[in-house]
Amino acid sequence: MKELEEKIKKDGRVLGADILKVDSFLNHQIDPVLMKKMGEEFYNEFKNQNVTKIITVESSGIAPAVMAGLSFNKPVVFARKHKSLTLKDDLYTADVYSFTKQTSNKISVSKNFLDSSDNVLIIDDFLANGQAVKGLADIAKDAGANIVGAGIVIEKSFQKGRSLVDEMGIKVLSLARIKEFKDGQVVFEED
Ligand code: G4P
Repeated sequence: MKELEEKIKKDGRVLGADILKVDSFLNHQIDPVLMKKMGEEFYNEFKNQNVTKIITVESSGIAPAVMAGLSFNKPVVFARKHKSLTLKDDLYTADVYSFTKQTSNKISVSKNFLDSSDNVLIIDDFLANGQAVKGLADIAKDAGANIVGAGIVIEKSFQKGRSLVDEMGIKVLSLARIKEFKDGQVVFEED
């Protein structure tokens, strides 16, 4: 998505070897106009797949997922990372290992919001090591739901996630695919 790549080039900042800071438009301050267009891109790719539900994981996946949900006119469910007062029983859960933080997080979705009649589209902001997508796919499988694909805002193709998700047989649409960071600059796959 050209507009997203331009935005990353203009406002993104490379931190160290492998982190892209995009908090001015994606995961802290949010650009809703750009986010809405991202939702439309996901819709255009997956509109013929009978998507019944969008799933993501809190917190940064929620904004692009809601915009996708708006385009599909379907509900959005976000997996929670923390126990909630009202979310206790009847949960699907999965472990998500963070290589960055070297910790494992449990994510949960209420059984009320996902079942075997669902065709789910997974949405997330970053595809890095692929553990979040894997956890969401585990939850969808546990529910007996069909996984239509995964829509990612920014894929860092030089990390393990893309091949992991490909191996799982999940169709991926990444709106921006970063091949590498070179001298503090972002190089996209098609550059
Ligand atoms: P994975 O989700 O693909 O397995 O990747 P990883 O364990 O490496 O990522 C851990 C967290 O760091 C995730 O957010 C992920 O979105 C985020 N992340 C990964 N690479 C980048 C990057 O280059 N830039 C930024 N800004 N974030 C990155 P999280 O811990 O789930 O946080 P949040 O969704 O609550 O914000």
